[in-house]
Amino acid sequence: MDAPNGSQDTEQTLDSQVKAFFDSAPPLQNRNDIIQKLNHFIQLNSLSSENGIGKRIVCVTSGGTTAPLEQRCVRYVDNFSSGHRGATSTEYFLKAGYAVIFLYRRGSFQPFCRSLPDDPLLDCFEATEGLNIQVGEAYSKAVKTAIVDHHAAVNSGLLLKLPFSTIFEYLQMLQIISKPMKDIGPRAMFFLAAAVSDFYVPWKDMVEHKIQSGSHILDVKLVQVPKMLSVLRKDWAPVAFCISFKLETDSNILIKKARGALEKYNMHAVVANELSTRKEQVVVVTIDDKITVQRDKSKADDDVENPLIKLLSQRHSAYIEDSKRMR
Ligand code: PMT
Repeated sequence: MDAPNGSQDTEQTLDSQVKAFFDSAPPLQNRNDIIQKLNHFIQLNSLSSENGIGKRIVCVTSGGTTAPLEQRCVRYVDNFSSGHRGATSTEYFLKAGYAVIFLYRRGSFQPFCRSLPDDPLLDCFEATEGLNIQVGEAYSKAVKTAIVDHHAAVNSGLLLKLPFSTIFEYLQMLQIISKPMKDIGPRAMFFLAAAVSDFYVPWKDMVEHKIQSGSHILDVKLVQVPKMLSVLRKDWAPVAFCISFKLETDSNILIKKARGALEKYNMHAVVANELSTRKEQVVVVTIDDKITVQRDKSKADDDVENPLIKLLSQRHSAYIEDSKRMR
């Protein structure tokens, strides 16, 4: 998902691209509401802890962003991401003791719902003779687990779910989230698993109404979305522990590209994954390591995210300890 000439930007052109992007973006409707929820969430999880320094908080981004083609959007450019990685990782982060801000694409996979069928409402429930509704036998355990675990995480203030659809919403929300995350220093982690659009139509260049069919060729000019990873690291939350992802379909270039991203965007780790094997194995690339992480195939219900989040959680703890020593 790289732009053809993606690595040639100077810092100055990146800054102007970032400015142009945010200037052109339609403002978020619920901006104040999001800020309020976030501040409350981060405050709550900064007070509660066993060691007196507050919980570790991770922002997990999940699913794909859309790039609309019309202001009153009928059509958009989308990508393949299902949100499985982000949703599953969220469950393991919660197990590892994190509070999680789950920034997810509307309609994508949700934490604790992976064992449910595609259409849970219609497939899991059935009408009894008196027209009461009950959970069908086949999904009884999965539905109970999903409801109990989901409510426990949300009600105890450990899971905050924030939905996005477009690239405009996603990047504005990421920026908003990074502000209070910056204040908690090294306790903050970004786990950037979302598949972010590389190209978009700037709002001011977009037609207002539905593009009419009829002409043979649809001529739309897409502009490169500025890579926000370096902005996040440099300005938005410079002390947070940052994990980005690198997806390729060609295994021969995957590790080289991940290493390139690690250095270029100054990430703490890049999780390299190949499209077809992404649920089985990933490679965690750091400045001095390259660790292959695999799902335990002897267990039918194990996920690659299980050992992945264990590893990242350990690295994050070490990073927090190092930061304390350097103070
Ligand atoms: O959702 P699933 O179906 O479970 O699939 C999971 C996944 C394959 C989507 C996930 O594991 C993954 O690899 N996500 C990142 C995919 C991607 O967009 O790769 P990329 O090489 O285009 O981007 C690399 C990184 O830059 C990403 O962390 C992305 O968040 C970030 N990025 C990308 C473009 C952009 N303009 N700004 C960014 O910050």
